[in-house]
Amino acid sequence: MRYTDVSDQLDEVLVTEEQLLARLEELAREVERDYAGTEVLLVGVLKGAVMVMADFSRALRDSVQMDWMAVSSYGNGTQSTGVVRILKDLDTDINGRHVLLVEDIIDTGLTLSWLRENLMSRGALSVKILAALRKPDAVVADIVPDYLGFDIPNKFVVGYGLDYAERFRHLRDVAVLSPHVYAKGE
Ligand code: PRP
Repeated sequence: MRYTDVSDQLDEVLVTEEQLLARLEELAREVERDYAGTEVLLVGVLKGAVMVMADFSRALRDSVQMDWMAVSSYGNGTQSTGVVRILKDLDTDINGRHVLLVEDIIDTGLTLSWLRENLMSRGALSVKILAALRKPDAVVADIVPDYLGFDIPNKFVVGYGLDYAERFRHLRDVAVLSPHVYAKGE
């Protein structure tokens, strides 16, 4: 972990930048093979997916288009509510398009479950899911990613797009947030 100023707020590193980049390269090869000859639209879910979208899209050898949505699934707390609200919608008409949803993490899976249904209802030909991380012990929705980086334990993690109260998103690695940080609301 290269950010020494926050090292006392983090416990162990779960996934390093190097592991993430190497896995995204592998997934890029799979996506190229699966979508060969087909135009795909990458849809990133703000804000957490910014890092994985940047790295994954640049790992692709085929050109792609990208668009973004912002949804609210839970606020500054640590619990998913299942309530999804669109804060920023797509600029692209996805009717007749193949969509690959790009997410940083599947926690309960409620956000992606809702998003997949929402995008299909707009006439997308297909909606697949790429997630950098998944907490298998937390998943409650019927969501199986088509492309997955890493399964991680059900701990409060930050970095690589994941935040706690909008902090720590910029960290290159995925690390466990020390409980003393959210216990005190630091
Ligand atoms: C996080 C994450 C996913 C969602 C996953 O987003 O980026 O979108 O939660 O949780 P779920 O599987 O339990 O639905 P968040 O709502 O925290 O917004 P952010 O991306 O702006 O941090």
